[in-house]
Parts: sequence; structure tokens; C-alpha cells
Amino acid sequence: MTQATERGATNTTERGATHAMERREGADAPDVNGTHRSSSNALIDLWRSAVGKKWVMALTGIGLMGFVFAHMFGNLKMFLGRTEFDHYAEGLRDLFSPIIPHGWALWGLRIGLIVMFALHIISAAQLTAMNRRSRPIRYQSPRDYIAANFAARTMRWTGIIVLLYLAYHLADLTWGWVNPDFVHGAAYDNLVASLSVPYVAAIYLVGNIALGIHLFHGAWSMFQSMGINSPRYNGVRRAFAAGFVIVTIGMNCAFVVAIQLGVVAN
Ligand code: HEM
Repeated sequence: MTQATERGATNTTERGATHAMERREGADAPDVNGTHRSSSNALIDLWRSAVGKKWVMALTGIGLMGFVFAHMFGNLKMFLGRTEFDHYAEGLRDLFSPIIPHGWALWGLRIGLIVMFALHIISAAQLTAMNRRSRPIRYQSPRDYIAANFAARTMRWTGIIVLLYLAYHLADLTWGWVNPDFVHGAAYDNLVASLSVPYVAAIYLVGNIALGIHLFHGAWSMFQSMGINSPRYNGVRRAFAAGFVIVTIGMNCAFVVAIQLGVVAN
């Protein structure tokens, strides 16, 4: 090989490595098929990049966390009794009425939730596919590999458990398919009838604990996705993630225990 060819080969390798590192950092990542496509629309380009998908995951994650918190806060009404709780459940259907027709605001919220949920899951699946395809640089140490793999696996499994829990929860308290005592509009009685059954209480506890683990890691890593990753803020990030999970999931589990113990009863 001549010197010039050797230099050329080295340059090509260096360019390849540099390009690979750029791709690793995600600023200009390939799409899921591993090819570079660019469109005239900046938003579509952003969605195709790893950074864009991480932002979508973080923003939809924040939206979903907002829902989980608001839902927990609303459910506190169960401690005030049947009348207050049913009034609250009916009030959700009456939101912004009569400015807009009865039930429309709740449907708006539901559609928003469904869109956030779908985007969150699609971007998670596509990021996993992208990571598998474009890992030209291996982890620096087996420890990093084990840690990253453990986190990814935990997120996947807790995510699947939360999805199954949510399907059961809707079939139980919204549609009444798995609740033999379900009566439309009787939110408090439906809740108590359902969570008084030990195996249903166990399903709720498992679902909520899985959600807690998912949220703890998610709340922590969303800062990273948004570029807030200075080690200086590690303490604040951890405190926020832990505080959020303790308050929301702690209360959700307390609801289940309160019904099982008869503190909240018919
Ligand atoms: C122990 C914890 C929980 C309790 C006691 C609870 C209670 C309820 C109740 C009573 C309803 C029906 C309200 C109605 O009559 O309209 C409901 C609906 C719902 N819950 Fe929960 N929930 C809990 C946890 C969760 C969690 C962790 C999530 C999300 C992961 C969730 C998502 C939903 C959704 C999406 C609906 C349907 C809202 C609608 O479209 O009307 N819930 N929940």
C-alpha cells in the first residue's frame, strides 16, 4: 500500500469513527432503518433522530406524570365519603360545561392521554431498535453495560406490567367488565366493591409498585434527555424522582390498604 493510500485509509477510518461518535451522541442519529433520510420538515427530522425521540419520551412522560398526580389527588376524595367522591367523578364529566357540552372536556383529556401514551410507547420501542442497530462503540466497562442493560430491562418490564394493569383498571372501574357489582355512575361503590376483593387489591398493588419503579427511573432520566445532566444536580434529580414516587404511589397503595382494612367502606 502506498503512503497516500495508507493516509486515505486512515482518514476514512477516522472519519468513520468521528461519524459514529456523532451518531452515538444522537445529534444526527440514523432513523430506525439505519439509513440517513432527511426531509424538508424540521419536525419530521427531529422525530427521526434519537434526540428528538428522547425529547418526545421526556415530554410525554411529564404529561403522564401530571395525570398520575392529578388522578391520585382526585382520588383522595374517597376519604370524604360516597357523596363527595361521586360528585367529583360526575364533575369530571361536567368540566367546562356549559361553555362546552357535557362530557366533551373529559373526552379531550382522554384523547390527550391516549396520544401521549402512544407517543411514549412508540418512541421507547424505536429508541430501543435504534440503540441495538447503532452501537459502533461498545460500553467502556462491563459494569456500564450491566447497569445500562438492567435499567433498560427494568423499564421495559415495568412498562409492560403498567400497561396490563391499566387495561385491567379500565375494564374494572370504567367499563365494569370484570366487576360483577359494577353500576354505571356509582364510582364510589364500584371502587369499594372492587378493591375489597383481595386478589383485585393485589393486582392494584403490583401495578402501582411497577409504576413506582418505572416513574423513579423515568423521572430521573428525563432530565438527562433534556440535557440537564450535570452531576451537580444529581441530588436534586434523585430527590425529585423519589419524592414524586413516594407521594403518588405511596398514596395509591394507601387507597388499596384503606379499602382492604375497611377505613373506606360502603
Ligand atoms: C389505587 C390507585 C387508583 C385508584 C383508586 C383509581 C381509581 C379510579 C377510578 C375510581 C376511576 C373511574 C372514575 C370514573 O368513574 O370515571 C379511574 C379511572 C381511570 N384511572 Fe385510575 N385509579 C388508580 C390508579 C391509576 C393509575 C396508576 C393509572 C395510570 C397508570 C390510572 C389510570 C386511570 C384511567 C386512564 C382512568 C379512566 C379515566 C376516564 O377515561 O374516565 N389509575 N381510576
